[in-house]
Amino acid sequence: MKPDSMASRARTFEVRTIGCQMNAHDSERIAGVLHTAGFRQASPGDQADVIVINTCAVRENADNRLYGNLGILAARKRENPHLLVAVAGCLAQKDRERILERASCVDVVIGTHNVDALPVLLERASGSGEAQIEIIESLRAFPSDLPARRASAHSAWVSISVGCNNTCTYCIVPKLRGRQRDRRQEQIVAEVRALAESGAREITLLGQNVNAYGVQFGQRGAFAELLRTVGAVPGIRRVRFTSPHPRDFTADVIAAMAETPTVMPHLHIPLQSGSDDVLRRMRRSYRADKFLRTIADVRASIQDAAFTTDIIVGFPGETDDDFDQTMAVVEQSRFAGAFTFKYSPRPGTPAAGYEDQVPADVVASRYERLAKLVARIAMEENSRFTGRTVEVMISDSSGRKDGSTSRVSGRARDNRLVHALRPEGVTLAPGDVVSATVTLAAPHYLVADKDVSVTDPFPQATVCGDPSSVTEIGMPTVR
Ligand code: 5AD
Ligand code: SF4
Repeated sequence: MKPDSMASRARTFEVRTIGCQMNAHDSERIAGVLHTAGFRQASPGDQADVIVINTCAVRENADNRLYGNLGILAARKRENPHLLVAVAGCLAQKDRERILERASCVDVVIGTHNVDALPVLLERASGSGEAQIEIIESLRAFPSDLPARRASAHSAWVSISVGCNNTCTYCIVPKLRGRQRDRRQEQIVAEVRALAESGAREITLLGQNVNAYGVQFGQRGAFAELLRTVGAVPGIRRVRFTSPHPRDFTADVIAAMAETPTVMPHLHIPLQSGSDDVLRRMRRSYRADKFLRTIADVRASIQDAAFTTDIIVGFPGETDDDFDQTMAVVEQSRFAGAFTFKYSPRPGTPAAGYEDQVPADVVASRYERLAKLVARIAMEENSRFTGRTVEVMISDSSGRKDGSTSRVSGRARDNRLVHALRPEGVTLAPGDVVSATVTLAAPHYLVADKDVSVTDPFPQATVCGDPSSVTEIGMPTVR
């Protein structure tokens, strides 16, 4: 039974995200569905009546984070038995019963394909006092057709496909998200137009394998065409996308990037390994030389393009020689940054059953060597920017932790993180575009404290969603 206080006011919710940008965008849909059903986002610092944890299953540390969160929520639930806890997303899809077994505080478990059922299941759980599980295996409604409460007014994620047709042997995604389903271009463009009309100036196209967009309709060149079309939508200043697959990275996409001024000169292109043997066993159907050629081709067409990547260290059977080949490709690729992961066996994936798992101490020492190399190269690449002028779209104007409000942060066109000094007497808000001269380089960011001036103010001060109740506690990249 609902207590009086809850019946007399709208119930509040908080969505916590463990995972990538795709998950963070799914959280915006979860928030939208709850909002439409009459729930309200909890204000910062308030205890929400409903807490949804939107999970990721790509690597094991996401599991640990989920159970850590649930441990804390169990204690909170002992104090407030009316608190409702829901677990959504990939890990929910994978672990269903296990979550309920391990965490009795969970009231609802919901999969990736049926976010729309969440309000009904919450109602049922609060009415019956019994946990509700609803996981469906195939996509019912494209998540983008659900309402969204977006965390940012100036920058929006737009999903172009869900699922993946590849079978990388370490990856749990195809099993959990299913085969690739593409959204119709008209629908994607309509969403971008609507976002632009309500103020968005930056769009990030999302998919597990964005450049395979169009396979479902047998449409070749569909991703390149989509980039050009989205890039031409009035009001859109910046178009980004993540993540492409090196195998499908074709010349028409490079041409679309080079010829569409609003498509940003940044490519996140997951390498995974620089060894052809390892790539073969990962079932990644490109080889190191093709990867390096793609990077060279992009560099030849797009001046000052920046590259970031994902690399897995310690895939089963990885030898010292294999690892050295990864180091060599990293050295040649000159990445501006890389997300490096220790291989994590995901039950149900082929590689989890491979016998030649690499000992943890070997993985740890390789991981450290790689992280050092990545940081050294990123520092060298960033140092080239000292004295140069960069265009920065502000994403955070809340100032430093010490309370000083003079520092703003944002992304350069090539996605480099830039901290800039707010000129005295000037107000800066997320979405503003400034120009600034770089005064200092670090491995993970640039400082641009000179000649900071607003070149393209963000006229729209209204925030579409309240970002405070969509908390990101996850990893920074897609999948
Ligand atoms: N172990 C470690 N890293 C993984 N990734 C995906 N699956 C695994 C796994 N089992 C990494 C890949 C991918 C990124 C999102 O996560 O590098 O590109
Ligand atoms: Fe698909 Fe990427 Fe997973 Fe490979 S790593 S199966 S491309 S989601």
